[in-house]
Amino acid sequence: HTHSHTHTHTHWTQLSVQFRSGSLRFCSQSPTFSRCALPLICSSLLGPQVQQILSEFQLKTEELKEVMRRMQHEMNRGLRLETHEEASVKMLPTYVCSTPEGSEVGDFLALDLGGTNFRVMLVKVGGDEERSFKVETKHQMYSIPEDAMTGTAEMLFDYIAECMSDFLDKHHIKHKKLPLGFTFSFPVRHEDLDKGILLNWTKGFKASGAEGNNVVGLLRDAIKRRGDFEMHVVAMVNDTVATMISCYYEDRSCEVGMIVGTGCNACYMEEMRTVELVEGEEGRMCVNTEWGAFGDKGELEDFRLEYDRVVDEASINPGQQLYEKLISGKYMGELVRLVLMKLVNENLLFNGEASELLKTRGSFETRFVSQVESDSGDRKQIYNILSSLGLLPSELDCDIVQLVCENISTRSAHMCGAGLAGIINQMREQRRQDTLKITVGVDGSVYKLHPYFCDRFHKVVRELTPHCDITFLQSEEGSGRGAALISAVACKMAAYMLTQ
Ligand SMILES: *[C@@H]1O[C@H](CO)[C@@H](O)[C@H](O)[C@H]1NC(C)=O
Ligand SMILES: *[C@@H]1O[C@H](CO)[C@@H](O)[C@H](O)[C@H]1NC(C)=O
Ligand SMILES: *[C@@H]1O[C@H](CO)[C@@H](O)[C@H](O)[C@H]1NC(C)=O
Repeated sequence: HTHSHTHTHTHWTQLSVQFRSGSLRFCSQSPTFSRCALPLICSSLLGPQVQQILSEFQLKTEELKEVMRRMQHEMNRGLRLETHEEASVKMLPTYVCSTPEGSEVGDFLALDLGGTNFRVMLVKVGGDEERSFKVETKHQMYSIPEDAMTGTAEMLFDYIAECMSDFLDKHHIKHKKLPLGFTFSFPVRHEDLDKGILLNWTKGFKASGAEGNNVVGLLRDAIKRRGDFEMHVVAMVNDTVATMISCYYEDRSCEVGMIVGTGCNACYMEEMRTVELVEGEEGRMCVNTEWGAFGDKGELEDFRLEYDRVVDEASINPGQQLYEKLISGKYMGELVRLVLMKLVNENLLFNGEASELLKTRGSFETRFVSQVESDSGDRKQIYNILSSLGLLPSELDCDIVQLVCENISTRSAHMCGAGLAGIINQMREQRRQDTLKITVGVDGSVYKLHPYFCDRFHKVVRELTPHCDITFLQSEEGSGRGAALISAVACKMAAYMLTQ
């Protein structure tokens, strides 16, 4: 990561201007310096070092193209039978083949389990005159108690069934045997649309006896044990897939789904002939890339910095999900904190002194990154956050912290954009189209809540995908609704197969 002098110089000019208008604290303390001389001295003392540290986060277009090429290469290895085992990007078949057509009418129940909150939703899907869809939902959140998360699988699924029973009672629909779609956002190896083996719990779940088992089976058993209602579990999908499907209802070109929140993942419709893990040549199947694991076989070593290594080593899964760790909200705040600590240790920030809180892992939350970057220019927001961490920042400190946040969230957007560009180029090549018109459904807190993430992200994706016309669509109520719609498709497909 070398940067030309002019580049460095331009950046520094901005910083010293901010300094001059801001922290005069240093100047007025030293009567021997004139007001304008000091910032120049400071700039030559501090500037290049801060610059140097932040420059490592700035990726050139050539580097992003390289990330994109490597991503596409790994995707192809994941798709091919002979390389699938060793590929870092697993490209898991989802068995979601066709996307819904405009005729499903009916009620569906949707479950959404992906974190400490569990959601039950009643969805009414109706086709209206213009062959578009009307989707109405009623939903309720239940929080999962600690003992259900960490006890046995039976305890967890009994609790889920209990919530469902409560929901059905409240809406007076316990007597109906509704089709059920299950958004289950953990790593799963699908054997069919309604059969998936849990590979690993993540996000703090530990319930024993679930890993290695069919999740739909566990749910069906729990419903049977209760015996007070019946359900027809037709489909289980990942939140990424659910995002794609739910956006498809608004835009029929939506064939990519992506999540950038606590985690980061993407799926897209791949040509069946390329999905070697599943027999069949016709049509397309949705492939869950599991691209968070990109880099786990060394593909990102030349892009990972010392801070990334510290974050990884302190995580619950060292050496795994390395691409996700460069991007997702779970790690962004901590990366900022590590860079701030580096600057403090080099005596470039907070007078070289960190507060106890700043020294504490996890204290700089990812939402602070958004807040720091949305500061209106008076530094109030930045000042408040830093004081809440026990610091007494100068105005220059505030400006440096803002630059750190900008650089880290920008790297996240650019890295993620390079990955998506890999997917889109893959689609264009596989479809042998000169130009590809495609819509990407997106969900996730980083994408939705960070003030500049999506602009920076869109810009990079478009730069790296010539001959593509890309629309980005934010999913509303993503996962639960997607699962319900997928169960609609599954029912329709089942009905179709019965009549054959
Ligand atoms: C990164 O930090 C530099 C200062 O080192 C700043 O000039 C630049 O604007 C920042 N880049 C981004 C993309 O935020
Ligand atoms: C599903 O989504 C979650 C969150 O995006 C991710 O952690 C998990 O690995 C995904 N995978 C599968 C196959 O369900
Ligand atoms: C996931 O499961 C595999 C085997 O099923 C195991 O080797 C691996 O360590 C697990 N990963 C995590 C993060 O628990």
